[in-house]
Amino acid sequence: MDNVTDEIKSRLDIVEVIQEYLPQLKQAGANWKTLCPFHNEKSPSFTVSREKQIWHCFGCSEGGDIFSFVMKMEGVEFVDALRILAKKANVILKKQDQQLTNQRARLLDICQLSANFYHQILIKMPSGEIARKYFTKRKISSPTAKDFQLGFAPDSWENLTNFLLSKGFKENEIVESGMAIKSANLFAKNKSLTFFQKKVRDKIYDRFRNRLMFPICDVHENVIGFSGRILEDKKDEAKYINTPQTLIYNKSQVLYGLNKAKQEIRKENLAVMVEGNMDVISSHQAGIKNVIACSGTALTLEQIKLLKRYSFNLALAFDIDPAGQKATKRGIDNAWQQEMNIKIIKLPEGKDPDECIKKDANVWQKAIKDSQSIMEYYFDSVFLNSDLSKVENKKSAAKILLPIISKLTNKIEQAHWLQKLGEFLNIDEQILRDSIIKKNASFNSRSIIKEKNDSLIDKQVSLVDGQNLLLEEKIIGMIFKFHKNLKKIILEFPLNILQNKKLSELAKNFIKDYIKNEEKFTEDKWIKSISKEMTDYFNTLIFTTEKDFSDFDSSIEYEIQKNINILKKNKKKNLKK
Ligand code: GTP
Ligand code: MN
Repeated sequence: MDNVTDEIKSRLDIVEVIQEYLPQLKQAGANWKTLCPFHNEKSPSFTVSREKQIWHCFGCSEGGDIFSFVMKMEGVEFVDALRILAKKANVILKKQDQQLTNQRARLLDICQLSANFYHQILIKMPSGEIARKYFTKRKISSPTAKDFQLGFAPDSWENLTNFLLSKGFKENEIVESGMAIKSANLFAKNKSLTFFQKKVRDKIYDRFRNRLMFPICDVHENVIGFSGRILEDKKDEAKYINTPQTLIYNKSQVLYGLNKAKQEIRKENLAVMVEGNMDVISSHQAGIKNVIACSGTALTLEQIKLLKRYSFNLALAFDIDPAGQKATKRGIDNAWQQEMNIKIIKLPEGKDPDECIKKDANVWQKAIKDSQSIMEYYFDSVFLNSDLSKVENKKSAAKILLPIISKLTNKIEQAHWLQKLGEFLNIDEQILRDSIIKKNASFNSRSIIKEKNDSLIDKQVSLVDGQNLLLEEKIIGMIFKFHKNLKKIILEFPLNILQNKKLSELAKNFIKDYIKNEEKFTEDKWIKSISKEMTDYFNTLIFTTEKDFSDFDSSIEYEIQKNINILKKNKKKNLKK
């Protein structure tokens, strides 16, 4: 094995790895198929070849090997994909590979050890008594506390720090993990320090003191940070403090509880988003597990990407004002524009889910079931108590709803809601449409017209070329796929019939290598000598061929020869024209 990536590839099966992420991946003919996780689609065009250990999506044209899949799916860099897959394959990374992952691994260790440390205090130390009482009061059971690794940081400046030092971690690592803070800043401005001050100046101390601890995990159940809640709400202290940005924790890339909720989100095809950690924990305890928290901040694009791995449907259990300003502030518009379907959960009397569950979990369950699409919600809140015989009311309704409708990226959906609005207001839909168009800058509408004309011309020109390109790709695809039995055809192949530059370059390269190595030719070796772009193209051709020719019965040589002849005829015709 020449390197660690080959070693890992040889030990893992791409179908099995992808199935862990996409359980719906099913065998279909020679390949495996499911809905593409990287774009929104209704019929499966995401294809995996076990034989070639590659994947490809015919919808969005993404594709590659096991590493590129994990990188895209997890939204991580190559080194992280390497670490994840090495673990799966039981491959131990060599020193130089390790160095890249080493620092992160040490921080992950610190976080996990800290979680255990705080949890032990919560469940059995005398200093944890006060926190045990707190959780009992809030009806959190011991199994739930264990499941979420809940803990308690006692009122001490060095409890955790000393523990971590005793485990062999260095001060700078403990600070880098976010678990401790360096006190240097305390004396920074004061130049003349006493002996004592100098002595403590560079000390580090625990970040979390006298707080209930909620470990924050990534989707692989690694603890990457903490959220610490104060025991009793006080005016002059933050209710929550969190791990700052570290090498392993980036708050815009995690969602609290997703590690526990992901399977259920996939199963239910719905993610329920609540405001607070306690809401997540209560809901899980009540058996409703497709629930995560946004932790009081706006939804980021990274979080949306993460969620879309599991479902395109998102139900929100926090209040949104009828004018849509809160939704915008909370990043819901982002999710919407990323083609997620947004629903709104209405809870009785403005309760939060935690309170609601404590009273009656069925109410919570029913509220989720009865959630309403966000557009229906906006319409209801505008029209339910409005007297539409008054023209001012019509005007103000249009003023609220038109900007919201104009944000819809899906044109069919937009048309649907414009029509609805027209019906409600008893106003011609076209008038509403015009007012949207007028609002959007005239620049936009002009560019649409231009686009239309361009594509018309393109279409006429490319119809003939397009057909020929399909033929060219079909022929080369078959050669690539069945090259083991096609020596004669390959040696005699008329390369000059290929007009497409990229295809011709790829085919030339392949045939050259084939002729040079003859019996010793291997596809794997050749693939390594070409660029990433060309490899992607090669994979696409292989998959297209498999799709088209999984069940043909004539001999492959005959099929190729037939297509070469058609192509030659087409070219002659074109020349005459
Ligand atoms: P309980 O009051 O125990 O039910 O907590 P909660 O988690 O429901 O909190 P709340 O509804 O007040 O706030 C919702 C979320 O906003 C919390 O889970 C936190 O993630 C976040 N949050 C609230 N207060 C603070 C704060 O002072 N600082 C930070 N950084 N985040 C906060
Ligand atoms: Mn709460």
